[in-house]
Amino acid sequence: GSPVKPPEFRRLMPLSRPDADYDLGSNAETWSYFWHPVATLAEFQSHSHTGRGPMATRLLDRQIVLVELDGKVQAFDDRCPHRSASLGLGVLDKGEFRCRYHGWRFDAAGRCTDIPSMEEGQKVPGNIRLTQFDCDVRYDLIWVRLKSGATTEIPHFPAWDDPTMTSHMGAPYLWPVSSGRRVANFTDVTHLPFGHKGTLGGPPYTRFKAYPIAQHDGMLEFQQDQFIAYNPGDATFGPPTGPESIMLPPGGYQVVMPFTVMLFFDFGQGRFSQIMMHPTPIDAENCRSYWITSHTTDSSATQEHLSLQSTVLTEDIAFVSSQNPRALSDEAGEMSVKADKPEIIWRRWLKRLIAAAAIGPAEIDRCLAETGTH
Ligand code: FES
Ligand code: CO
Repeated sequence: GSPVKPPEFRRLMPLSRPDADYDLGSNAETWSYFWHPVATLAEFQSHSHTGRGPMATRLLDRQIVLVELDGKVQAFDDRCPHRSASLGLGVLDKGEFRCRYHGWRFDAAGRCTDIPSMEEGQKVPGNIRLTQFDCDVRYDLIWVRLKSGATTEIPHFPAWDDPTMTSHMGAPYLWPVSSGRRVANFTDVTHLPFGHKGTLGGPPYTRFKAYPIAQHDGMLEFQQDQFIAYNPGDATFGPPTGPESIMLPPGGYQVVMPFTVMLFFDFGQGRFSQIMMHPTPIDAENCRSYWITSHTTDSSATQEHLSLQSTVLTEDIAFVSSQNPRALSDEAGEMSVKADKPEIIWRRWLKRLIAAAAIGPAEIDRCLAETGTH
């Protein structure tokens, strides 16, 4: 197929508030302790002719560089310690990689192993080292964690390893809103009858209960039973009116703190689907969402599973990018109703995590271990 384009960071919206904080005033500090996807494996592999990088990308206002060394994708601060050039411009060289500006070479641990401009016989100083970050590949996504210390993990997406399911990687998308705004939108069912009228719902099916929410294992879990049948014959929502009616079954949500959302559908007769979505914070008011949609293996076309999503996304971006402020902020004084409960419970946990991070990583672990029913 055609090569996948690298992230188009030049198209980022400038911050609406130059002093904008990350969601709920975290200053990026808290979310550095968590894993975030920074590229799809396909983007990384198609970025250079070697298929192994280097490739620059962004996470939490930092430029980082990905490069495969010793058979593993590594992540470093994307700044050469010599004159601060981007190592994303660099080249692979004998299992290590070189900055392309003056040719300094670095190994898989970020140690400088060669400085071509030094006089013959001189030793490379031992203290020249790149800042390295935790990096792992899971679900064909490259995940990075900027700060170690807390025992945070890459969220478990069950469909990926399920031999009865087929998974499709969605094209990542960059939105001019914070990660928090994106998660809030994705888990918000009350906008379906209006924001997705005719796609995922429609009046008169607008009433929502405040469903119970279980808090455990670093996640919030809740069911949503307002999904109903779409009847293409008469273009209505409600009880099925014909054999062609598409039943939208109850959906189970998992919000893995802070920003991973998984959606579980049971269509009956052994047919299931799952969606995983993670909006990675690029900076305080821009996020890039990575997503995978999976379904019980059948003869359906890939396009069938991706096209509904792109319709929904096209509807959502108009609302979400219009939100002002573009990050979640208590100062906005937004009003809520009972059906907004999932977002409220989740926002409160975000705030407790932010307070915990200010104390230290062990406190983050304690906060993530909270359990309860809301
Ligand atoms: Fe990288 Fe000089 S800036 S080698
Ligand atoms: Co929506």
